[in-house]
Amino acid sequence: PRRVAEFTPRVQELTDRLIDSFVERGSADLIHEFAFPLPIYAICDLLGVPAEDQDDFRDWAGMMIRHGGGPRGGVARSVKKMRGYLAELIHRKREEPGDDLISGLIKASDHGEHLTENEAAAMAFILLFAGFETTVNLIGNGVYQLLRHPEERARLQASLAAGETGLLETGVEELLRYDGPVEMATWRYATRALTIGGQEIPAGDPVLVVLAAADRDPERFEGPDTLDLARRDNQHLGYGHGIHYCLGAPLARLEGQTALATLLTRLPDLRLAADPAELRWRGGLIMRGLRTLPVEFSPSVPLSTTDEPSEM
Ligand code: HEM
Repeated sequence: PRRVAEFTPRVQELTDRLIDSFVERGSADLIHEFAFPLPIYAICDLLGVPAEDQDDFRDWAGMMIRHGGGPRGGVARSVKKMRGYLAELIHRKREEPGDDLISGLIKASDHGEHLTENEAAAMAFILLFAGFETTVNLIGNGVYQLLRHPEERARLQASLAAGETGLLETGVEELLRYDGPVEMATWRYATRALTIGGQEIPAGDPVLVVLAAADRDPERFEGPDTLDLARRDNQHLGYGHGIHYCLGAPLARLEGQTALATLLTRLPDLRLAADPAELRWRGGLIMRGLRTLPVEFSPSVPLSTTDEPSEM
């Protein structure tokens, strides 16, 4: 959380630069041009991937998110390239450490805190992998639901205009509950025979917990199918629960809050540019997210109108 708090201005800068790249056009695909690159650049920055290599990460991650829609073997090749790159980066950071997470992981491994170099590379990879598509979907599903709930969206816009952050904070949690990025938790196995909801589960059987169903449980949430951005009693399972509770929740919250607040403030008349029934959702069992999110808005001028190339 400390590292994430220090990271706040950088996430704001990345968010503004991405909006700058399409703000004059009056239209955009918010998944490809915004929700997808933001977490990639953010995690690369946090890990300490140099700016000039971050677009490679964008390409590799793009392949990974296609869920089989790309060329044959493309996902495996991208994963291999990413892992190879991270192993090499760890070598480089050992020679020249910085104030980044990879240098921190190397330091932990050098101090014998039970972390080998290989484990540090695996850790960096898992952070990228776990923190990427999830955050794409938080922004994508979040914007989509705000556009489909004009009263809630107007309420949030009014509160942001008044300089308040309370509704933004509870609102992002409510969007996670209402239409969260992770529909099912990762696989569990019953350690002993048990019965849940009348269903007998023998020891050793796999169990898939549907977080999205728990988050609409009428016994737990009042009016579960209503989007209420000010919902207070909102212990949702969007980030999981227990010892595997999401490690990246503080970063995800920061990115989600910054992305939604900046979009609604800079593009106040943001609207869907497609019939919701025609929007396509990604396949896959665990995640829930849109393939594209076409939007329109009144064009305006970029914030950064400097003549320097905008390097991310
Ligand atoms: C809105 C964005 C995110 C959502 C909804 C989300 C959701 C989740 C969920 C539901 C789990 C638990 C899975 C299970 O129990 O099977 C989890 C675990 C995890 N998440 Fe996230 N996540 C998000 C962003 C991130 C980010 C940004 C990072 C890292 C930078 C991250 C890293 C992790 C890791 C490492 C775990 C595994 C923790 C463990 O097993 O001990 N997540 N996340």
